[in-house]
Amino acid sequence: MIVCIGAGPGHLDFLTRKGADLITEADVVAGFDAVVDVVRPLIPTTAQVVTMSYRDQVAQLAEVARLHHAGKRCAVVFMGDIHFSGFQFLERVETACKHPVETVPGISSAQMLASKSRVCFDETTFLTFHRRGDLNPFKTHLRDVLAAGRNAIVIPRPWDFMPKDVAAYLLGCGLPPEHRAEVWENLSRTEAEWTGDLTQLAEQDFSDMSILLVRALTPMPTGLEGEA
Ligand SMILES: C[S@@+](CC[C@H](N)C(=O)[O-])C[C@H]1O[C@@H](n2cnc3c(N)ncnc32)[C@H](O)[C@@H]1O
Repeated sequence: MIVCIGAGPGHLDFLTRKGADLITEADVVAGFDAVVDVVRPLIPTTAQVVTMSYRDQVAQLAEVARLHHAGKRCAVVFMGDIHFSGFQFLERVETACKHPVETVPGISSAQMLASKSRVCFDETTFLTFHRRGDLNPFKTHLRDVLAAGRNAIVIPRPWDFMPKDVAAYLLGCGLPPEHRAEVWENLSRTEAEWTGDLTQLAEQDFSDMSILLVRALTPMPTGLEGEA
C-alpha cells in the first residue's frame, strides 16, 4: 500500500483526519524534510522515515517504492494540497512505483491565502510557477486572467520568477500598475508580509516561502446587488 497525502501547509492543524490516520498507521513515512517535520508528531516510533531534498528525491523515492513493493504501508507527505504545485512530485512517486497511486487532498497555501485575504475561488485563478519546464504558457495565462478582471493567486518560482519578476512581467505586458498586490511569507500570521501596487512590488525581495495575490483592478459585482 502506498498513498500520497496533502499535509499543511506548515501546521498540523491543516491536515485532514484521513491523512492523519494514514500516517499514524504507516510503516514508512516519506517526503521532503520540511513536510515530514510538520507531521513528525504523528509518526509512529516504529515507522521508518525517508526524507529527501530536490537533489536526492529520485533515489529516495526508489527506496520508498522498494519498501512498498515489499508490502510495507507507505505514506508520502506533500506540502499543502497535492493538486496545486504537487503533480511533478506525484509523477516522480508514480514513476518510482511504476503504477498510479492513491491521493488524499490537503489544504493548500492558496486556500489559506484566499481565506486570509478574503477572495473567493469563483473570481480568482490559481497559478503556480514552482515547476520545472517552460513557464511561458503560465505567464501568458496570468496576464490574460488579470486582463479579464479576475484575481490571481500565484506561487512564484525560486529564484528566477519571484514576486518582483511577476510584477515586472505584468507591467511589461502593459497591465495597469494600480493592481493591488499582497505577499504572504508565513500564512500562520494574521497580516500580509507586504502590501502595495505592482510598481512597488517590482522593487521587493522575498523568501522562497512566499505566495502572492494580485487583485483585480475592480472587484466583481456580487450578483446580489438590487435583490428584492
Ligand atoms: C512546491 S509549492 C507546493 C504548494 C503546495 N502544494 C500547496 O498546496 O500549498 C511550494 C510553495 O508553496 C508556497 N507555500 C507553501 N506553504 C506556504 C506558507 N506557509 N506560506 C507561504 N507560502 C507557502 C511557497 O511559495 C512555496 O515555495
